[in-house]
Amino acid sequence: MYEHDVIVVGAGGAGLRAAIAAQEAGADVAIVSKLHPVRSHTGAAEGGINAALRDADSWEDHAYDTMKGSDYLGDAPAVEALCRESPEEVITLEHWGMPFSREDDGRVSQRPFGGLSFPRTTYAGAETGHQMLHTMYEQVVKRGITVYDEWHVMDLAVTDEDDPADRTCHGVVAYDIQSGEISGFRADGGVILATGGMGQVFDHTTNAVANTGDGVAMAYRAGVPMEDMEFIQFHPTTLPSTGVLISEGVRGEGGILYNRKGERFMFEHGYANNDGELASRDVVSRAELTEVNEGRGIEDEYVHLDMRHLGEERILDRLENILHLAEDFEGADGLTEPMPVKPGQHYAMGGIETNEHGETVINGLYAAGECACASVHGANRLGGNALPELIVFGKRAGRHAAGDDMGEAEIPTGKEGEWEPADYEFEVEVGETGGSDPAAADGGAVATDADGVLGATVERAQERVDELLARKGRNHAEIRSQVQKTMTANVNVFREQEGLKETLGDLREAREAYKDVAVSDPSRTFNTDLIHTMETRNILDIAEALTMGALARREFRGAHWRKERQERDDENWLKHTLVSWNDGEPELWYKPAILEGENKTYEPKTRSY
Ligand code: FUM
Repeated sequence: MYEHDVIVVGAGGAGLRAAIAAQEAGADVAIVSKLHPVRSHTGAAEGGINAALRDADSWEDHAYDTMKGSDYLGDAPAVEALCRESPEEVITLEHWGMPFSREDDGRVSQRPFGGLSFPRTTYAGAETGHQMLHTMYEQVVKRGITVYDEWHVMDLAVTDEDDPADRTCHGVVAYDIQSGEISGFRADGGVILATGGMGQVFDHTTNAVANTGDGVAMAYRAGVPMEDMEFIQFHPTTLPSTGVLISEGVRGEGGILYNRKGERFMFEHGYANNDGELASRDVVSRAELTEVNEGRGIEDEYVHLDMRHLGEERILDRLENILHLAEDFEGADGLTEPMPVKPGQHYAMGGIETNEHGETVINGLYAAGECACASVHGANRLGGNALPELIVFGKRAGRHAAGDDMGEAEIPTGKEGEWEPADYEFEVEVGETGGSDPAAADGGAVATDADGVLGATVERAQERVDELLARKGRNHAEIRSQVQKTMTANVNVFREQEGLKETLGDLREAREAYKDVAVSDPSRTFNTDLIHTMETRNILDIAEALTMGALARREFRGAHWRKERQERDDENWLKHTLVSWNDGEPELWYKPAILEGENKTYEPKTRSY
């Protein structure tokens, strides 16, 4: 058993920032991560960090853009915290030595990004996340923060009271990928989940193979609601054959999208008459797919992104990384030809329900970054708002877990505020399938004290690994690929009821199949078959909750388009969907979005760009 005041799970941007903040607040903090910190997916973030740094800009304008971008489903207290605190966080990174791109006068450069009314995206070439990750990892090393890397966290050690609001998280249980040891990590101050995205639920994604939503699924199993899971961002410019991201920074610098006929379709076909290529991502992704569906795509699959006119000098100065990615992963030379691009899964707006301090409904359990839903992005995230989210909410969660008094939160968690039950019939059975290892079958361990709960959770994890290694059965890869295919077919940019129902049925079958899953590699060291099998269980839980939310929300808002109702329905749907795991069954319910900010209410308006 390892013991620290605060345990941070995940070592990307949110995890590192949380750990630094907790340490600064006086806690003995440790990071537990299945990857070495600098291999975290934050390192793949290209475009930048939105921060209102200039006199002509303001955090209030940033907040307005973010609320509009969210299609009025962001919760204003979280949005305003993000926009108010992002400038200070960027300056802190700069003081820690982050090599931002700069203007000739030495100021940190900023460029336009989609949906922004001011060019407020700070950047480090087209490798902003990479630089940010290394800058913060240096701070972690400098401060002597303990890092348990290549430890895969399997479950949370949570007590088992009936009401999730009465439960307490006392730590985590993790599997040492190097040795096969399973151990408890006790944390009396708090556990902060910072496990990043869930892109592996889909088969065309910008996310790394490691992005399997582990933290989200663990929190769900322990009784924390998953919020707004249906809102998935499909980035408009990913390379068709691999899903590798081509940064929005290309369009920010002036890159242009063309269809097969050479038309600048964002303007010529009226998708965004003012902002064109720099409309919000959901708008651009739908436009591209409409072009393809109406026969104006290239090879019936993609469109072209052209940056040749920017000139070699500017491209090398600000977008060099893009040249390498396009060349290495698609064989396209961005200096002399347009690059093929199509929409790909990029980001989950929803996730673990938290308030603006990163607290979940379970005592001592926090979440920050992409795995969390505060909710800052509502129905659609603006490009350049993910990296500030990591540092602002990572820091907030770290401070709170370390005992800093941050005042009363305005955003309620669980059923402590206003809520309503959902009256939706799924027609397909959801939830537990029975069997010895059903996905999401276990919530809290049967104990109410810290040692008891950690001991019971370790024991259960050990039994599970032993069983997976001992038995004969199906390989996880087949099941994972079945899930990814049905999600990509039916829970993509355009969604309709019949397809969503079909996917829910497919997921049921996948759950059934998972009951017989087994690991063929018996080794206890670096057994990737075993790790992927455990991750597949997380993918299954997430995919089901996501599809449930997508079926239930019968309106078109932000990234969630529904064939049956192609308009926003503020009368009925200015609310968040929540899915809670209750005794083997997912329960769907709703709570209202909070549009009241500190000094103003963000009244929903028609969203055009
Ligand atoms: O396009 C990009 O560089 C991605 C940025 C983001 O997702 O914020």
